[in-house]
Amino acid sequence: MCGIVAYVGHREAYPIIIKGLKRLEYRGYDSAGIALMNGDLNVYKKKGKVADLEQYLEGQKLNSTIGIGHTRWATHGEPSDRNAHPHYSENKNLAIIHNGIIENYASLKQDLENRGHVFHSDTDSEVFIHFIEDIQQNAKCSLEEAVRLALSKVVGAYAIVIISRDNNNQLIAARKGSPLVIGVGKDEFFLASDATPIIEYTNEVVYVNDLEIAIIRDNKLTIKTIENTDNTPYIQKLDLELEAIEKGGYDHFMLKEIFEQPKSIKDAMRGRINSENNHLVLGGLRDYMNRMLSTNRIVIIACGTSWHAGLVAEYIFEELARVNVEVEYASEFRYRNPVINEGDVIIAISQSGETADTLAAIELAKSKGAIIFGVCNVVGSSIPRATHAGAYLHAGPEIGVASTKAFTAQVTVLTMMALSLAQKKGTITESKFHELLVDLEQIPTKVEQILAQSEKIKYISQEFKDAKNFLYLGRGVNFPVALEGALKLKEISYIHAEGYPAAEMKHGPIALIDEEMPVVVVATKDNSYEKIVSNIQEVRARKGKVIAIVTEGETHIQKMSDFVIEIPATHDLLVPLLAVIPLQLLSYYIAIYRGCNVDQPRNLAKSVTVE
Ligand code: AGP
Ligand code: GLU
Repeated sequence: MCGIVAYVGHREAYPIIIKGLKRLEYRGYDSAGIALMNGDLNVYKKKGKVADLEQYLEGQKLNSTIGIGHTRWATHGEPSDRNAHPHYSENKNLAIIHNGIIENYASLKQDLENRGHVFHSDTDSEVFIHFIEDIQQNAKCSLEEAVRLALSKVVGAYAIVIISRDNNNQLIAARKGSPLVIGVGKDEFFLASDATPIIEYTNEVVYVNDLEIAIIRDNKLTIKTIENTDNTPYIQKLDLELEAIEKGGYDHFMLKEIFEQPKSIKDAMRGRINSENNHLVLGGLRDYMNRMLSTNRIVIIACGTSWHAGLVAEYIFEELARVNVEVEYASEFRYRNPVINEGDVIIAISQSGETADTLAAIELAKSKGAIIFGVCNVVGSSIPRATHAGAYLHAGPEIGVASTKAFTAQVTVLTMMALSLAQKKGTITESKFHELLVDLEQIPTKVEQILAQSEKIKYISQEFKDAKNFLYLGRGVNFPVALEGALKLKEISYIHAEGYPAAEMKHGPIALIDEEMPVVVVATKDNSYEKIVSNIQEVRARKGKVIAIVTEGETHIQKMSDFVIEIPATHDLLVPLLAVIPLQLLSYYIAIYRGCNVDQPRNLAKSVTVE
C-alpha cells in the first residue's frame, strides 16, 4: 500500500524517481524519501507529500544514475521523517525501500539489538535491512545471497529494492504478496509498484512473481527464486498509454474517472456483446463455463467498493441464473474456516488486483478445491495471476482512491457473466436475454445524460457540505448502491454516512432522523416503488431532508422530496449502473466544498496490499 520506484541506467535517476513517486502517490502518501549514489549513498526523506520532499531537495546536488524512492502508507511507526523510507543498514552501506509488513520484525529486532544494532525508526522495514546486513557480515556472502537467506526467515509481505554503496550499478529487488514491476529499457531498468511510473520510458515489463529475487547488475537482469534456481525473465508488452494516467484537464482524477464512465462501461462490453445477433461471449471464462454451469453455489469475495459490486451481482445472478450466491468480505472469509465444497465457484472482484485480503481469500478457497474466477482491472496484477479464469474490466487505470469507474465496470462485467450463465442454463427466455442486451448497450448513453446534470448536483452538494451525518437508503438491487454512495461520501468528505436497506429503517435507524439528517433515497420506478414512497414519507414525517434519485419523468416523489435527481429508465436490474452516478458526483462536490483532498483522502491508499 505504498509506492516504490527505483532506477538504474544512463539517465539522471532523481527526476525519474520523483516523478514516478508522484504517479504512485495514490497508493500511499504520508511521507516520502529517496536514496541516491551522489558521491556517497545518501538518504533524503520527509513526512508529507512527495511535493514536500521535492521542495526540501530544491537546490541540492542530486546527480546519480541510480536511486530508490518510496511514498509511504504507515503500518509500523507513525508518519514522520524518521519512519519514512529509505532506511539505512547499521553501517550505512545499504538502503532499503519496502512495501508490506514484516510480521516477525519484533523478534528479529530484539535479536539484532542484542548484537549491537542501533535502530533510528519504529518501522519493521528498517529491521529488514539490518537483518540482511547482519547475515551478509556473518555469512561473508554476497548481498544477493544475504537477501535470499533473509527472505527465507522473514514472515510477512514485501516488495523491496535495495541499493548498495559498494556497487552503484546494482539494485536487488524481491517480492512476496506486494506488487513489483520491472521496466526494461535500453541499458536501463525501472522498478515500481505498478506500471504507471514506467510507461513513459518503456512498454516492456517483467512482473516479478512471489518468492522471486531480481538482481540488476551491470545492465543485466537476472531472476532467481528464493530456492536459488534461475527463472527466465518473462518480458511482456504493456498496453497502457501515457494520457491514461494524466488528469486530462479535470481538476481531479476522481472527476475524470466519473466522467470516463460512458467510455469505460462501453469498453467493458467491447467485443463481448452485440445485441443485433444476440452475441455475448466472455472469452476469459470460456474454458471454465462448464464449472459455472454445474455449480450449485457461487461465492463472491471482495473488499470495499468491489464488495458492493458483488452485492449487486448477487441480486442479478439469483434473478437471472437462479443459482445460490453468497457475498463475503474477503477480510472476514480468509480468517473463518468457511465451508467450501469441491464444485463451488468463487468470483474474486478487485480493481487493483493486489488487495491482500482478497488474495489470501483466493488462496484459501483454492486450497479447498474451488474454481476461482477473477474480475479485475489491472492487467498482470497478482489476483488475475492467482485465478483459474477471469474477465478484465478494461476500464483503464483508476488513480483516484475513491473507486468510481471500476464499480460500474465491475457491475457491467458481472451482469454479462450472469446473463451468459442464464442463457446457457435456459433460466431466461431468448427474448428477455435480447432485451437485457439492448438495455445494457444503452447504459453508456444514459450515463452521459446523468453526467449532464453535474451542475445541478453540484448545487445540491452545497446545501449539505456542513452535514455531520448522512443516511443512504435503497431496496433490492439498489440497497448495495446505498452502501456504495455512503462509502464514497465518507471516504472523501469525512462525513459519517451509513447505507441501509430502506425497509430496515423502522428497525432502528429511523431514530436518527431529524432536520439535521440528510437522507439520500434511491427511489426509482421498480417493483418496490410503493414501499420506498412510504419510507420517504416516514423520513419526511420526522423532518428529515430527502434527496431522491428517481426515474426520469416521475413526479409523485418530487412533491415529497427536498431535492430530486432524475435518471433515465432502464431494466430494474441495471438501475445500479445509473443510480450510482449521482451519488459519486454528490460525494465529489461535497468533498470539494469541504476542501478535502479528493484524490488522496487522509488515512487511505488506493490499493490495500497489507492486512
Ligand atoms: C473504494 O472507493 C475504496 N477505495 C476501497 O474500498 C476499495 O474498493 C477496496 O480497497 C478494494 O480495492 P480493490 O477493488 O482494488 O480490491
Ligand atoms: N511496513 C512498512 C512501514 O510501515 C511499509 C509500509 C508500506 O507498505 O508503505 O514503514
